[in-house]
Amino acid sequence: MTILVSGGAGYIGSHTVLYLQQQNEEVIVLDNFSKGHRNALHDVKFYEGDLADTVLLDKVFQENKIDAIIHFAASSLVGESMEKPLDYYENNVLSTFQLIKKAVEHNVNNIVFSSTAATYGEPKNIPILETDPTIPTNPYGETKLAIEKMLKWSYEAYGLNSICLRYFNAAGADPEGKIGEDHTPESHLIPIVLEAALGQRDGVKIFGDDYPTADGTCIRDYIHVLDLAQAHYLAVQKLLNDGGCDVFNLGNGHGFSVKEVIETCRKVTQKDIKADVSPRREGDPAQLIASSDKAKNILGWKPHYDNLETMVQHAWNWHSTHVNGYKNK
Ligand code: UFG
Repeated sequence: MTILVSGGAGYIGSHTVLYLQQQNEEVIVLDNFSKGHRNALHDVKFYEGDLADTVLLDKVFQENKIDAIIHFAASSLVGESMEKPLDYYENNVLSTFQLIKKAVEHNVNNIVFSSTAATYGEPKNIPILETDPTIPTNPYGETKLAIEKMLKWSYEAYGLNSICLRYFNAAGADPEGKIGEDHTPESHLIPIVLEAALGQRDGVKIFGDDYPTADGTCIRDYIHVLDLAQAHYLAVQKLLNDGGCDVFNLGNGHGFSVKEVIETCRKVTQKDIKADVSPRREGDPAQLIASSDKAKNILGWKPHYDNLETMVQHAWNWHSTHVNGYKNK
C-alpha cells in the first residue's frame, strides 16, 4: 500500500517512515523541514512544503494513489503553546483542516493521527483510560483534541476513517543507530540528560521534587519510538480492513520518575551526571501513566522495548555517535 506521512522528517515521523520501509510499504513524505531533518530520510520520495499549501496538497494527491495518511506534522511544545496559542491553532488545527479537506476531496479515506496524552490534562485516574475525561491544560493539548473532534465529525459526515493515537512520552531511537532524536531547542528529559552526559550541558535541572510521588519527582510513561511506529502501521491496517473511527493510548503502562530516568542514564552512559533540584515547571502533572490494553486488544499491538534501560541505551547509541545531531552528516 501507499502511505502519505506528513511530518515524516520529525522524530516520531522518521522512525515510522523507517519502520514502514522495513515492512516494504510504499511511503511518501510531506514535510516543510521547519523542525524535521532531511538526513532523517533515506531512500524515500518526499515533497517539501506546508500543509497550508493547498496547491501542493492537490499535487501530492494527484500524483500518487494514496491508501492512507499518517499525520504527524504539528507544533508540539507545551510551554511554547502557552505563549503562542494562536500559532498552535494555525499550525495544528488549520493545517490539519486543509489536509482533511483535501483528503476528502481526493477520496483518501483513511487517516491515522498523532495525538497526545496532553489531551487528558491533569488525570483523574492512573492508569489513564481512553474513556477518561479530556480537559487539556494547555493549547497544545487543546489543539490536538480539536483535531480529534474534527476527525470524528468527518467520519460521521464523509466516512473518513480515522484512528487517533495518544502517545505518552516517546523515547529511544532506531536500535541500529541510523536515525534518532534531534530537537532545537531540546526540552525532553532523556535527550537533555544525555547531552549533560556528553558535557554539552552543565548538568540537569530536576523540575521539582515535592510532588506526591515516592521520590517527589514527576512520573512519566516512556514508550519506545519504534513501538509507536509499529502501532501506526497496525492502525493503518485496521482502517483498511475495518474502517471506523477510534482513539487509542500508547504507553508502556509503567511509570518512571525523573530521578529514576537520570539514574538509568548514569548507568547506561557510565557518566557521573550532575543533577540539581530546581522549581517546578508550570503545567506538569505529577503522574502520567497509560493503560494501553485497548491498543493491545484491538490493534494487536505488541511493544518490544518496554524496558527503560533499553530505551536509554538506544537513545545513547544515537547521541554518543551524533554529538551535533543531524548536523554531523
Ligand atoms: N524534566 C526535568 N528536567 C528537564 C526536562 C524535563 O525535570 O530538563 C521533567 C519534566 O518536568 C517532566 C519529565 O521530566 O516531569 C518529562 O518531561 P518532558 O519534557 O520530557 O516530557 P513531558 O512529560 O512534559 O511531555 C511529553 C511530550 C509532550 C506531551 C506530553 C504528554 O513531550 O509533547 O508528554 O503528556 F504533550
